[in-house]
Amino acid sequence: MLTIEIFTLFPNLFEAPLRESILGRAVAHGLLTVGVHNIRDAATDRHQVTDDAPYGGGGGMVMKPEPIFAEVETVLGSPPALPVILLTPQGTPFTQEKAWALAETPGFALLCGRYEGVDERVREHLASEELSIGDYVLSGGELAALVVVEAVARLLPGALGNEEGARDDSHSSGLLEYPHYTRPPEFRGWGVPDVLLSGNHAQLRQWRREQSLRRTFLRRPDLLAKAELSDEEKRLIARWKSQEPGAEK
Ligand code: ADE
Repeated sequence: MLTIEIFTLFPNLFEAPLRESILGRAVAHGLLTVGVHNIRDAATDRHQVTDDAPYGGGGGMVMKPEPIFAEVETVLGSPPALPVILLTPQGTPFTQEKAWALAETPGFALLCGRYEGVDERVREHLASEELSIGDYVLSGGELAALVVVEAVARLLPGALGNEEGARDDSHSSGLLEYPHYTRPPEFRGWGVPDVLLSGNHAQLRQWRREQSLRRTFLRRPDLLAKAELSDEEKRLIARWKSQEPGAEK
């Protein structure tokens, strides 16, 4: 059982995603438990203020440290009993490898920043780590936190209903996935590759691997540098590299 504690100013944003689909089922089946905590609950003043103007001026508002520390420490103790991950575009890039690592821990907390940012003392003295889900800016960490929760939850044993599922995914092998087809065998005149209908499992495995390599070569050559490749696969890629860029997708 994995524990995820989320700290946010917008708890409603988490309701539907945590209820539906694989994530909802993982929660319902007790594979993980997700707590959503409203930082505003810990704001003690009459108007429950959670942000303030930045020292030194400039635009935007900054999330105040007191309600964040208070809410996190009320739930997790002081010091916090779980690692506190701050979602921010300034964080370390979130990857499939990181998702696997988080899925193997007892739990973690996700702290969602809003507005222009959070007071630097939160980063320095409360967050144990900072993650970014990509090089673009969201209005807050909530959707980023959901991305992390979803990516991690589907890796928990039993979450997908088939244990091989997650290991075959794009990125789990360090490569992009091969193309998928299902019935009908012909749709609007478009067929499916013969090998899929042949029942030859060895050929099928080889075709999938080669498609996976080809796709990665064309779309994400940066991933090939880190992938585990056989000598034969390296030769194949070297051949592709030496060919003129073709019209293929
Ligand atoms: N908050 C705002 N933008 C973000 C991003 N790209 N990743 C994580 N948290 C964020």
